[in-house]
Amino acid sequence: MNAHADTLNAEHEHAKFREMKEGTAQDWAIIGKEYMEHAKGLPDRVLDHLRLLEGDFGGFPVDRLEHSLQTATRAHRDGRDEQYVVMALLHDIGDTLGSYNHPEVAASIIKPFVSEEVHWICQNHGAFQGYYYFHFLGMDKDAREKFRGSPYFDACAEFCEKYDQAAFDPDYDSENLDFFEPMVRRVMARPLASMYSKALIEDD
Ligand SMILES: [Fe+2]
Ligand SMILES: [Fe+2]
Repeated sequence: MNAHADTLNAEHEHAKFREMKEGTAQDWAIIGKEYMEHAKGLPDRVLDHLRLLEGDFGGFPVDRLEHSLQTATRAHRDGRDEQYVVMALLHDIGDTLGSYNHPEVAASIIKPFVSEEVHWICQNHGAFQGYYYFHFLGMDKDAREKFRGSPYFDACAEFCEKYDQAAFDPDYDSENLDFFEPMVRRVMARPLASMYSKALIEDD
């Protein structure tokens, strides 16, 4: 363990068990308290990770951070609510670690905080975005058709048409990340649904 980790550890209480099956209520009180603090830091970690997309162009006309800001700005200026705008801001945040399945990364991060529809749009936007370019790569531009029976098909198609595929304009006056930060904090302030929701609420 390095010196920094030693210092951090010295400031915190620790559970005593070596295997979880030895755990006690006291151990879990310690861990529960730490978990609450850690959960509160989620918006900061998400915003930090989003900043990793800066300067990452991948051949596109704008970098991935500008694309994210532009997608969110277009959604916001079109009157979308905060859940939707935050989804638009984060929809490609998985490009760094989920290079082969990026929509699922963003969808997992926002899932506890948004409606089923907004989550679905995020999770499946990759196939719908393909409508605009898959045919240039020898793929099927109509790959999204496999989702035609979903109640959210039109909403996802609309997200891509109005905001995602439209957000590659280097001359567009996107809002900056500071503008969206309060929205990210509000949307992520409390999970609407999580297997840990009961514990989180009781701890307030
Ligand atoms: Fe994407
Ligand atoms: Fe995108």
